[in-house]
Amino acid sequence: MAELDRALEGLICYSEVYADLAGVQCAQETARWLAGRLADHFLKEETGVFAALSQLGSEHDVFARKMQREHREISLRVESFRKAAESFVEAIDLQQSIGDLQDAGKSLSSFMAAHMGAEEQRYTRLR
Ligand SMILES: [Fe+2]
Repeated sequence: MAELDRALEGLICYSEVYADLAGVQCAQETARWLAGRLADHFLKEETGVFAALSQLGSEHDVFARKMQREHREISLRVESFRKAAESFVEAIDLQQSIGDLQDAGKSLSSFMAAHMGAEEQRYTRLR
């Protein structure tokens, strides 16, 4: 996620004819990787860790359900990010496309970081 954040920050549109687009390829690769692997990771987490958490009591069950809802939200944000990254090749308005890609990437990155932080905090409490 930190690498993605740096790549998104590096996307700068200087004018309509020149832009530093080094981060676009990184964003596209990240989007494809996430779109291809996240669903399987979520399924394993939900049927394994979350199912076990739910057995530990109502507080943990509420947390597991919240994390599961967040998985759906992350999936939606990944799809928005993937679309922004893939449509970049056909972009007419470069500045708008850079803005859309940065917004989608940062929205995904911050939401995922908060989600993973909440899970890690919970798992640490249970160790
Ligand atoms: Fe998760």
